Amino acid sequence: MEFYEVIQKRRTYREFTSEDVAQEVLDRILHAGLQAPTNDHLRNWEFVVLHTQQEKENALQFVKEWAEKQSETKLQGGATSAQKMYAYAMPRQYTMLASCPYVILPFFKAAPGVFAPTSVSSLNSFAAIWCAIENLFLAITAEGLGYSIRIPVGEEGKQVAQVLGAPEGWVLPCYIGIGHPAPSPALEQNLYTPADKTHFGRW
Ligand SMILES: Cc1cc2nc3c(=O)[nH]c(=O)nc-3n(C[C@H](O)[C@H](O)[C@H](O)COP(=O)(O)O)c2cc1C
Repeated sequence: MEFYEVIQKRRTYREFTSEDVAQEVLDRILHAGLQAPTNDHLRNWEFVVLHTQQEKENALQFVKEWAEKQSETKLQGGATSAQKMYAYAMPRQYTMLASCPYVILPFFKAAPGVFAPTSVSSLNSFAAIWCAIENLFLAITAEGLGYSIRIPVGEEGKQVAQVLGAPEGWVLPCYIGIGHPAPSPALEQNLYTPADKTHFGRW
């Protein structure tokens, strides 16, 4: 797929078919993630990949518990595109991961100060894993597949790290499900052009 077509086609999915994904496709996607830019040449990233039912039950138990406690969001007239996305996305936070043939859990080694930043550079280790995550998203799209993403809330990330045996100091920024998207409603987007967002010379 041509590069700008990949950029344009990338979107977040929350419903998937039961069709599997080939191991060599997964390998190419992970390789793309590992080629992302990084602070200080570090690429301090490790991926845990879930494939079997048992692996998913173990690592996704906390998002499942979280999802079971959520109540349905009732949309009022005049709801914003973000509120509509939220109302659709929240009830699917567990199923959009569990129904994917593969779930990637990308871990980064948290540099000292990342959770108490004093400048933007304190956040470099966190910023770099998001470069890797975006590479994964684009590679998944280029393979003709789709992905779901969830940010762990509260203690969820630490709980997942613990049940997976991640070493001390390694942090889970998000979960990524990979699969074949099933038909789903098109969500409204706030999209912009350079003319809306660019200031030449000064703001
Ligand atoms: C930093 C970040 C956090 C996100 N967190 C979640 C999340 O916890 N759950 C979810 O369903 N989607 C999450 N998303 C996906 C966004 O809702 C989605 O990217 C946005 O609605 C734009 O839609 P698009 O990705 O299809 O262009 C997140 C995306 C980003 C970049």
